[in-house]
Amino acid sequence: MASQTPLKIVITAGPTREPLDAVRFMSNYSTGTIGYQMAREAIRRGHKVVLISGPVSLKAPEKAIVVKVESAREMYLAVNKHFKLCHCLIMSAAVSDYRPKKIISGKLKKIRKNLSLDLVRNPDILKQLAKIKKDRITVGFALEASNLISNASNKLREKNLDLIIANKKTKGPSPFGKEKPSGFFIDNRLKAERFTKIPKKALAGLIIDKVEKLWYTYHRSKRG
Ligand code: C5P
Repeated sequence: MASQTPLKIVITAGPTREPLDAVRFMSNYSTGTIGYQMAREAIRRGHKVVLISGPVSLKAPEKAIVVKVESAREMYLAVNKHFKLCHCLIMSAAVSDYRPKKIISGKLKKIRKNLSLDLVRNPDILKQLAKIKKDRITVGFALEASNLISNASNKLREKNLDLIIANKKTKGPSPFGKEKPSGFFIDNRLKAERFTKIPKKALAGLIIDKVEKLWYTYHRSKRG
């Protein structure tokens, strides 16, 4: 499949960090593994990859253009810049939905017994960009605590996606932290296809297969 025209694929990976003060931040347990595996697999097949990554301790594939970011707003700016020229956006980053309203200058002191933080919403990167996607393929991930297929399907529709990879929140910090995740691929006809305990490398390959199929089928059908 990849012997056809190579694609330019933007992949996001890892967590974002939302600063509280000069030394602290809010974040999550994302390791970035699946994003980095997808980047590696896409490059192996000859595609061009821009890997936009939150802070992780992984080695990026050599041929990827790597953009390191910290906060959701930085990620938004980077994705926005590269989205214009891409064929496909895969958002596997665990983007923080909220950030502290104010960043406290210096180090927050423990003077008060209790402390409340005001949080504000971050931009929904995928939703914003998928609104203006034209013929681009947009792929998201959904981590759901309940009603996995229906919640993920709603997300696919709300965010105007071609594919969503749905994963059930189980015990422990991160399901994609598991070596062999299980879940569903849901496509834009809302067809759900189960995957069970697949090693992450193989899962990354299946996602790139689906992206290639979506792109090349779409363009073949446009050409009639
Ligand atoms: O957090 P949520 O379940 O809405 O995430 C679904 C998809 O949307 C994921 O692919 C995630 O990367 C993306 N997302 C985003 N910007 C956000 C939150 C999530 O692009 N602020």
